[in-house]
Amino acid sequence: MNRVCVVSGFAFASVLAMACQDKAELAVYKGKATPTDPATIGSKTGAKADSRFEVDGGGASQPISKVSAASLLSRAKPLLGALAQQADNPANPSTTEKIDLGHLLYFDPRLSKSQKISCNTCHDLASYGVDIREKNGARSRTSEGHDAHFGERNTPTVYNAAFHMAQFWDGRAVDVEDQATKPILNPIEMAMDDDAAVLAALKAVPQYVEMFAAAFPESASDPITMANLSKAIGAYERKLVTPAPFDRFMGGDLTALDEAQLLGLQYFLDVGCTQCHSGPAVGGMQFQKLGTIKPWPDLVDEGRAAHTKNAIDKFVFKVPSLRNVTETGPWLHDGSFTELEAIVGKMAEFQSARGKVTLAETEAIVAFLGSLKGELPKELIKVPELPGIEPAVEPAKPSPI
Ligand code: HEC
Ligand code: HEC
Repeated sequence: MNRVCVVSGFAFASVLAMACQDKAELAVYKGKATPTDPATIGSKTGAKADSRFEVDGGGASQPISKVSAASLLSRAKPLLGALAQQADNPANPSTTEKIDLGHLLYFDPRLSKSQKISCNTCHDLASYGVDIREKNGARSRTSEGHDAHFGERNTPTVYNAAFHMAQFWDGRAVDVEDQATKPILNPIEMAMDDDAAVLAALKAVPQYVEMFAAAFPESASDPITMANLSKAIGAYERKLVTPAPFDRFMGGDLTALDEAQLLGLQYFLDVGCTQCHSGPAVGGMQFQKLGTIKPWPDLVDEGRAAHTKNAIDKFVFKVPSLRNVTETGPWLHDGSFTELEAIVGKMAEFQSARGKVTLAETEAIVAFLGSLKGELPKELIKVPELPGIEPAVEPAKPSPI
């Protein structure tokens, strides 16, 4: 279920104009607040605009009680919401056959020219769907693909991605199905020569021939096609959902978040992070400029403009989901931030009308972001035995002396 919202008008004092294609009932950014009009932010709930800053050092003016947990819940619910169990696509109905096939394909390195790179190489499902390979003792900013090539952009997580209104940092793929074959053919990722090479690799595996036929009975004469490959991987990705303590809170459990997290949620709402990080995925529903309030320094990647060739899209990126964000660093489209506190501080300063936040506020927001860390679907992400490949035999261990 998607809602496509395009927000334009990034200049100072301009009114944000939103055009939303109505694909779902999600309530996103109903307010009339502009990024430069702090007085209106938070006014929906009657909260004083600057109440957050009243206490010296930025601490809470009052301890968060159960009552305010309830009021936070009612503020947050229409802006954020609980994750659904899966992200459905009527054009690609979910079936066990497709999901099982997608599971194998996701892990299969034979979809790469080197036969060494699978989706899981860069989007490691056991590690929150991001690339955990290290370079010089830290996670790489960008991923190593075919022939030791590195791309320009950080690898986003595949978890909950199917909920986004579009895929990639610049939104150039409409959904996970549309996205799925692109890395396979990308010369610096999996680098297959063309569709024919991909289809030949799949047809060479008898079990795939059977599984495609079972998953796509409507195309019985020729089930192995790029479109069906996309659908199988897409159906699998639509199940990669990570329910978190925050969802229990959205469901009405006022004890699901601890005090620091509740305080962080209050700041998150007060600062107006939800103007952009909205919907159940806490993002993924809008395109926004990086540097809304003041120019982001030293930007190289032009974001959406590189795809749309439209000047208004310069430095505009899809607002990322903040689900599991504590686990998915380094952050930003270029992986330029290695500390979550640092990027949260910069977000407040460069993206929100409320401006800089204190260290204590930043820490509370980071604690709140921790409540978005979800459970991984263990069964669904087991490393599968791939058809037509002998399972690696464990080398015999020397017997203990
Ligand atoms: C070499 C590393 C690499 C491999 C292999 C790879 N990806 Fe990605 N993936 C990336 C990068 C980098 C991006 C972001 C690119 C961009 O936004 O321009 C991305 C983006 C995505 C997204 C969009 C997520 C979002 O939030 O917008 C999805 C979904 C995805 N990949 C799924 C897959 C699937 C499925 C496969 C296997 C068929 C795969 N990827 C293989 C690196 C990789
Ligand atoms: C005006 C819109 C806007 C507002 C307000 C906003 N953000 Fe963002 N945020 C973005 C965009 C766009 C990106 C992605 C930019 C990029 O990668 O170049 C982003 C990225 C992030 C990231 C990095 C995520 C990742 O996976 O790399 C974090 C964390 C984040 N924002 C947190 C926050 C917090 C916390 C607030 C409130 C203090 C906030 N944002 C306010 C638009 C916004």
